[in-house]
Amino acid sequence: MVKCWYFNDDGTDQRLAHQHDPVQLVDLEKLTEKTGVLYWKIDADNYENEGKLSEIRKERGYTYMDCIECCPEKLENYEDKLRSFFLEHIHADEEIRFVLDGSGYFDCRDIDDQWIRIQVTKGDLITLPAGIYHRFTLDEKNYIKAMRLFVGEPVWTPINRPADDHPARKTYIQLANDNFQQTISQSA
Ligand code: LAC
Ligand code: NI
Repeated sequence: MVKCWYFNDDGTDQRLAHQHDPVQLVDLEKLTEKTGVLYWKIDADNYENEGKLSEIRKERGYTYMDCIECCPEKLENYEDKLRSFFLEHIHADEEIRFVLDGSGYFDCRDIDDQWIRIQVTKGDLITLPAGIYHRFTLDEKNYIKAMRLFVGEPVWTPINRPADDHPARKTYIQLANDNFQQTISQSA
């Protein structure tokens, strides 16, 4: 189950938890209200029979899917890729990840530009809205296997910050100004 907290930017290794003392947890409802990120719990060992994933794919038009494994042995240019994943960026489209194994952290800027760290583990499906500033890192276990989903032909291109003039960013700001009501009603 996904767990989120405000990121403590203490300058240490990105793979550490980076919690404040005391920890400032963010519940799922607040996460969506503050970022537009959506979350589903899926049975990662039985998702083909469970039916939940195919329902979400149908509803949200996720026609494309593939798998990515992040560890030094499986990912080409591992160090470079991991470095670029952790540069703050946006995409023109939604970023959709379903964790099949392992774990990691997605950091997303909230509406006040504060980092919220989202810990994902096996069975977590999250969608980051188009235009949200975010980044990704592995944790100390250095392993994640995730399904990537997409509406139509995938475009993984990151647009590094600053990207405030990008159309997807402008649309995102409009959704944020409306407290993501549209996002919330679509997920209901
Ligand atoms: C991506 C993640 C790392 O863009 O944000 O693939
Ligand atoms: Ni990204």
